[in-house]
Amino acid sequence: MALERTFGMIKPDAVKNGHLGKILALIEENGFRVVALKTHHISKPQAEAFYEVHKARPFFGGLVNFMTEGKAVLLVLEREDAIAKWRELMGATDPAKAAEGTIRKKFAENIERNSVHGSDSKETAAIEVPFFFSSSELL
Ligand code: RTP
Ligand code: MG
Repeated sequence: MALERTFGMIKPDAVKNGHLGKILALIEENGFRVVALKTHHISKPQAEAFYEVHKARPFFGGLVNFMTEGKAVLLVLEREDAIAKWRELMGATDPAKAAEGTIRKKFAENIERNSVHGSDSKETAAIEVPFFFSSSELL
């Protein structure tokens, strides 16, 4: 299988709680190459646009507040089957349902403050990578 890239994020809860190093270690231990990485304080318009698919959901306002409360770490990750493998390492959205060994099981506070994000399909990755990274950052 060919190498694939996905967009990942370490959300403000995990950065604030000091889990950045442990999450990056898990990423490397699981065979991902970090193609690009930067800290970024997401703005309200960016968060609203990034999660636009959820704008009619009752949790949307809370989600935007959470995503803009502090710095996040933005990532482009590469390996074989990167999109599915990163979602697998993240674990279920609700940490109460996440499998042992997953990032959300280890570090998430609750279903909203759940430590990491990952693109959910090739189509989403193709939108999310350039949402935050310019082509010169992806060489
Ligand atoms: P993500 O997009 O962040 O990678 O997470 P996901 O695919 O596992 O979950 P999704 O359904 O896309 O939800 C996006 C994010 O919204 C927050 N959320 N809160 N309060 C709630 O019931 C609720 N449900 C979802 C989480 O931060 C979730 O990751
Ligand atoms: Mg999602």
